[in-house]
Amino acid sequence: MSEYQNLLVEPGDGWTELTIHRPDKLNALNDQTIAELGRFFDWARTDEGTRAVLVTGSGEKAFIAGADISELVKMTALDAEQSSRKGQETFDKIEYLGKPVIAAINGFALGGGCELALACTFRTASENAQIGLPEVGLGILPGYGGTQRLPRIVGRGIAAELVLTGQRIPAAEAHRIGLVNHVFSQEELIPKSREIIQKILRNGPIAIRMAQEAVVHGSEMTQADGLRYEATLFGLISASDDMHEGMQAFLEKRKPNFKGC
Ligand code: COA
Repeated sequence: MSEYQNLLVEPGDGWTELTIHRPDKLNALNDQTIAELGRFFDWARTDEGTRAVLVTGSGEKAFIAGADISELVKMTALDAEQSSRKGQETFDKIEYLGKPVIAAINGFALGGGCELALACTFRTASENAQIGLPEVGLGILPGYGGTQRLPRIVGRGIAAELVLTGQRIPAAEAHRIGLVNHVFSQEELIPKSREIIQKILRNGPIAIRMAQEAVVHGSEMTQADGLRYEATLFGLISASDDMHEGMQAFLEKRKPNFKGC
């Protein structure tokens, strides 16, 4: 029996596919699912067979329709603050996993669902996807990182409009503003997202890890500190066998055989 009630976990060829699975509630994130996500990403961090993660939602209608409103409605102020911190800590595990996490948004990605996708390394979407942060319409604000991550991805003006209106935008508009990298048909969403992961994983494993580290952590620094950090990682990776293999393979006009050391 699976150790998860609301997650489906399937191994890919070097990556792991994670499906949020509460289809009768459009995959809404209740406390149980948030706890399971925390456990899953703790596992994924150290699992050697997991060099990337593909996240999607069960069914054809929703990626994740938000935090579970039936739980939110019962919260005291202290519960709500704790729940927001718990959600933020869980989504930090995604952002700082040290491995690429791609959200394949297959329908509604609202509230906490949008926020989970924002914590991923990047996002793809199906043509029927609808993305938004509708919290203000419920009399609350996004509490799982949306007010902080969305402006960093699409810019403050567009983020402010989306957060303050609570409006949902379709996949094409999400693509136009840079919130998702690609829009695919529903049938193609997962195969095409897998192809992107395969393209990533063909490269040197240490190079992928360090490049991800430079992009994710570097973007939180001043540019001067980020450049210094990039140079440090560049120096470190130059001590790897993979660096010599990658360059030697180019010179010998053959495919590199990276070993991850
Ligand atoms: N929390 C808890 N349950 C949710 C949910 C959420 N965020 N989103 C959907 N559900 C449940 C519905 O209550 C319904 O359950 P039921 O069949 O037991 O009544 C089931 O999922 C199906 O949703 P339904 O509203 O009937 O589907 P729809 O196609 O008519 O509408 C949405 C889809 C996504 C537009 C609508 O469900 C919605 O607006 N959800 C809330 C989105 C939101 O505000 N999220 C932010 C939360 S902070």
